[in-house]
Amino acid sequence: MAVQAFGGPGGLAVVDRPVPGPAGGQVLIRTEAIGVGGVDVLIRSGALAAYGFEPGHVLGGEIAGTVAGTGDGVDPSWLGKRVWAFAGVGGGYAELAVAPAATLVPLPETLSPVDAVTLGSSGVVARFGLRHARFAPGESVLIRGAAGGIGIMAVQLAARGGAKTIAVTTSSAERGERLRELGATHVLGRDGEGAGEFDVILDVVAGPDLPAFFAKLKPNGRLVAVGAVAGDPPAGFGQALFSAFRKSMSFATFSADTVPVADRTEATAELFAGGLRAVVHEVLPLEQAARAHRMLDAGEVFGRIVLTPAAGRP
Ligand SMILES: NC(=O)c1ccc[n+]([C@@H]2O[C@H](COP(=O)([O-])OP(=O)(O)OC[C@H]3O[C@@H](n4cnc5c(N)ncnc54)[C@H](OP(=O)(O)O)[C@@H]3O)[C@@H](O)[C@H]2O)c1
Repeated sequence: MAVQAFGGPGGLAVVDRPVPGPAGGQVLIRTEAIGVGGVDVLIRSGALAAYGFEPGHVLGGEIAGTVAGTGDGVDPSWLGKRVWAFAGVGGGYAELAVAPAATLVPLPETLSPVDAVTLGSSGVVARFGLRHARFAPGESVLIRGAAGGIGIMAVQLAARGGAKTIAVTTSSAERGERLRELGATHVLGRDGEGAGEFDVILDVVAGPDLPAFFAKLKPNGRLVAVGAVAGDPPAGFGQALFSAFRKSMSFATFSADTVPVADRTEATAELFAGGLRAVVHEVLPLEQAARAHRMLDAGEVFGRIVLTPAAGRP
């Protein structure tokens, strides 16, 4: 599935491409599950045009399946193994995809490919994002934009990490109930009003309302932006931090790109072994990627949408 025209989901189309040969350090994977990520939506929409994406770009970073080929320098014993892999910024919405061997994580017997692509990269962002915020047991946490893949993992990891309270922002009471089942203790509207101040805010949303959330930090509180589903914050947003100078608050961005691949791989293996709940919104055939994107655009998704290629092809 390639983005033939940037903009709406209708720009996604089935294309025939030659099977990619794994280059040195890469493996070829016959995919069984492909995660649909928020970043796929941003690329498809054209919002990341400045990064040089061209029409014909195949989306998809997070995949699981079976190793069908190995490039130079890759241990051939990977052949035939069931794995999770991170293909990067594209190439994953395909029946056969290449990924760096360094990202491979063997799938435990009991973990399905669908659950693996639900837990994997979202869990890594949540885990290292909380670490970046220096989250410690006994602290209070607010997860802003908790109903997406990253937020759902962050709620579970904060609960396991001994958070005293876990507040979440969400747009519906029904989502709030589902987040409570995963460990949230306070459910707030998108404005985050009504639950006091927090040691840590993990923010998937950013956008125009970001500065208002600085006021919800305790003294020495840390707000880490791990996403920007509502776009960039307004110009001059740091003024809100400075206006409360005496509270010694911190703001940081966090990108998993800054975590060494070996650490991400190790963390993914731990997430797979950790008994966390994989919240799958829906599994759709790969050809219906546009439908998946429409559902994401409409804000209908709680958890992960996963694409699966038709069995037995190519
Ligand atoms: N840091 C990294 O390394 C990294 C890696 C991969 C992706 N990302 C970024 O993470 C983001 C995607 O994460 P995700 O898949 O977990 O998120 P998502 O599902 O796209 O969105 C999370 C939630 O935010 C809420 N939301 C959406 N639009 C909003 C708005 N305008 N104002 C307030 N809330 C809004 C929605 O919940 P409610 O309707 O319930 O409020 C939504 O479910 C992207 O920005 C992507 O670039 C970061």
